[in-house]
Amino acid sequence: MTHYFTDNWEAVQNFPARPDDILIATYPKAGTTWVSCILDLLYFGQTSPERQTSIPIHERVPFLEIFAPSVALVGTDQAEKLPTTPRLIKTHFPVQFVPKSFWEQNCRMVYVARNAKDNMVSYFHFDRMVKVQPEAGDWKDYFQRFIKGKMVFGSWYDHVSGWWKKKQTYSNIHYMFFEDLVEDTGREIDKLCSFLGLSPSAEVKKQITGEVQFDTMKKNSMANYSTFPAMDFKISPFMRKGKVGDWKNHFTVAQNEEFDEDYRKKMKDSTLQFRSEI
Ligand code: PPS
Repeated sequence: MTHYFTDNWEAVQNFPARPDDILIATYPKAGTTWVSCILDLLYFGQTSPERQTSIPIHERVPFLEIFAPSVALVGTDQAEKLPTTPRLIKTHFPVQFVPKSFWEQNCRMVYVARNAKDNMVSYFHFDRMVKVQPEAGDWKDYFQRFIKGKMVFGSWYDHVSGWWKKKQTYSNIHYMFFEDLVEDTGREIDKLCSFLGLSPSAEVKKQITGEVQFDTMKKNSMANYSTFPAMDFKISPFMRKGKVGDWKNHFTVAQNEEFDEDYRKKMKDSTLQFRSEI
């Protein structure tokens, strides 16, 4: 963790969740913004369409643990000031750090997981361009750091497995995959709707599916993070490629073999199945 996510620890851990809050949880770069936009449109796209055109996604869906008061980014304050019902709240916490009130209130949680190889590549480019993360360094070293779990928010392996395990005992987690969203966004929106108890018309669903396509979101300044301080899009854009399989442009053959061997060991007890190509 870095101080941006620990300096407000007490307030975050004591955050008073409400029963209708919806927590969007992911390992960084697994599809948080995509699912945040989908949920925001599902809940508020019809009743307050001006939200989507005037408020950046990081304000519509605050990042609970972020603490950067010098740039007015305090996730707990932002969440408490949200005027909406439900409140949509984002976190990158591994499951054990989720504030206890979310469990006590039996809140619904949407977890998005992405295959480790693409997740690593996306995180690498993000760490290169964002000024509040540790330096990415070169790809070779980053690759080793990711495997060792020495990343902000910890090990990808522990994160996806921890949330998967929790889902076995806590029924209000909807566990979804980035690759499924790429493959068939409409189908995944249908599954989200049945989890959330929503029944938008076919026309509305089609409209939402169109609005959250990669190219459309990339152009949308309220979704593409171009209004967010501390990112240098000249190095790499936030909405970078949005693909499954970009790891093939980064991993050497030797790295791929090392990765696969290590992955089998780390994930041997898990029933989680990822697709690193579709
Ligand atoms: S963050 O900073 O952790 O909140 O980032 P997060 O939003 O989780 O992940 C960013 C990656 O998701 C991709 N993305 C999308 N892909 C396809 N379609 C849509 N609509 C979409 N929206 C976001 C984004 O491009 C980042 O992935 P990469 O591989 O870097 O392109």
